[in-house]
Amino acid sequence: MTEFYRRAFADPRLGPVFVDVAQLDLPAHLPVICDFWQAVIFRAGTYRRNAFGVHAELHARVPLTPELFARWLELWTATVDDLHSGPHAERAKLQAHRIALSMGRRLADVPATSGTATPASSGAVTAAGRRRRPSEPD
Ligand code: HEM
Repeated sequence: MTEFYRRAFADPRLGPVFVDVAQLDLPAHLPVICDFWQAVIFRAGTYRRNAFGVHAELHARVPLTPELFARWLELWTATVDDLHSGPHAERAKLQAHRIALSMGRRLADVPATSGTATPASSGAVTAAGRRRRPSEPD
């Protein structure tokens, strides 16, 4: 994870989003994102937040375009390939693609200037951007 963020922060396209727009507090973010990937890769029940809502709010401040998602995926795939191999590495890449595609599609429906008051950021959707079932926890 730390290597991915090192690359993302240094990237000419993604860097400004993390550094200038979101002013990401990396030490605070790392435990959250590690819980997320632990849940995705190992199906552990470690992440119970609304990742889509976070990105919808970000998208309201700076458009998270398909090109930006493509670049994110490029860096993620390269980092995983450089540091890991095996079935869990494959799952990390496959799920990242699925989630990025789904998030990107849903964000395209969120107005880039006033996305904060939409169902997308009110917990009505899952981390993958799918509309949440009424019985489903956050
Ligand atoms: C254009 C692509 C992306 C950008 C620029 C981006 C940027 C960010 C930023 C700045 C945050 C921190 C927000 C904050 O705490 O203030 C964040 C959180 C997060 N991102 Fe992304 N992201 C992107 C794509 C993705 C993708 C594809 C995934 C999943 C596969 C993902 C998963 C997460 C998760 C789980 C969080 C933590 C949300 C929480 O606080 O619970 N991101 N992202």
